Amino acid sequence: MTSIIQTPALAMPSIRNAPEPEFLTRRVNRFYQERVQETWAGGHIMRGLQPGKDAIHLSSNDYLSLANHPRILEAAAHCLLESGNGLLMSGIFLHGDDNPLLTFEQRLARFMGAEAGILCQSGFAANTGLIQSIADASTPVYIDRMAHMSLWEGIRSAGATPRSFYHNDVDHLERQIAQYGPGVVIVDSVYSTNGSVCPLRDVVETGHRHGCVLVVDESHSLGTHGLRGEGMVASMGLGHKVHFLTASLAKAFAGRAGFITSSARFSDYFRFEANPAIFSSTLLPHEIAGLDATLDVIQTEGWRRTRLHANASYLRAALDDLGYNLNDTASQIIALESGTEQQTIILRDALEARGIFGSVFCAPATPKNRALIRLSVNCALTERELARIVDACRAIRQEVSMESWPSTRRKRASAASAALAAQPAVAA
Ligand SMILES: Cc1ncc(COP(=O)(O)O)c(C=O)c1O
Repeated sequence: MTSIIQTPALAMPSIRNAPEPEFLTRRVNRFYQERVQETWAGGHIMRGLQPGKDAIHLSSNDYLSLANHPRILEAAAHCLLESGNGLLMSGIFLHGDDNPLLTFEQRLARFMGAEAGILCQSGFAANTGLIQSIADASTPVYIDRMAHMSLWEGIRSAGATPRSFYHNDVDHLERQIAQYGPGVVIVDSVYSTNGSVCPLRDVVETGHRHGCVLVVDESHSLGTHGLRGEGMVASMGLGHKVHFLTASLAKAFAGRAGFITSSARFSDYFRFEANPAIFSSTLLPHEIAGLDATLDVIQTEGWRRTRLHANASYLRAALDDLGYNLNDTASQIIALESGTEQQTIILRDALEARGIFGSVFCAPATPKNRALIRLSVNCALTERELARIVDACRAIRQEVSMESWPSTRRKRASAASAALAAQPAVAA
């Protein structure tokens, strides 16, 4: 006779969070009081409209429009079905000549002109891990003021002292090094907030002359720059003077990973030294398979880069003509710098009402009162879509008070002083 064991009905646990101590409540309240209530007037700067079917998405960093590439998806899907999620563990345990992750690291490193490479879980993990493993409290770290937050976080976790220099100001970098001595120089090749491009040749020469270690974050140039997408440093022939390139593979590679190039000797050291490498699990097999297929596409489908740069230069020229101050962007990143967060909400709403969806950037991603909407151009934008973006930006100028933005006033002032400087000197 079979016995029927009756299980008592499972009671749903009541949902109640632990009460917060006062110091935490005070800190969280500050956000709701100062930012949500006072600055955003009860709205939310990150929560605009939901994009409709004909929306133009300019918030994704998928510059080469690879997120849905059939060959890449097939490679990742096939691997997922074959291998599942593989072994879930830290990368420190990986070894063997035919390990797909290690093989891909080598392949990507060679593509970028380096001896070895290290795959990380993200660009953030790559940058924090790298700086933590090359600097310490005695190392001066020279960092461009606009370098990505993950690099600053690396300096903080290294316990090193940041000696920042003005954005793209090589003379200031030189003066800082002369004062504090050889150290680590950190720049982005393309700056993620406004698309400005680093004067790489001069920065590298300066760092090299003073015996510094050079770190270049190529997140926004890997895949998009160079004949085969090898990035800016390799395409400019500067690889032999730059010690480390880092990159997020969540931009042109349209995946979820980060990368560091280095010497072979350094790469093994890194795996035993960098906290994100030791204490966080490594990538999954299908992610590697996807990235490997992406590298094939990036090398062979050069037309994507050609289209990307044509689209970006068309849009830059058109928006500049409309009077927007694009802050010297020379890349696929275009920022409309509206200034205050309230102005940025107005700009966001005006663009979104016309189906244009960019990314809101405000503090801590920008200095206070230099908030902006970032437009990330991609290679799949059609002529019609580009025209729609320009039409929308033309139509909204009054509605968003573009003429009175501080960035517009700066543009007018610099045009006036350039015109003055160009006038022939009148002989007395
Ligand atoms: C220049 C730069 N470096 C690093 C990162 C971090 O990359 P990830 O998103 O892969 O963590 C980003 C992305 O925001 C970036 O723009």
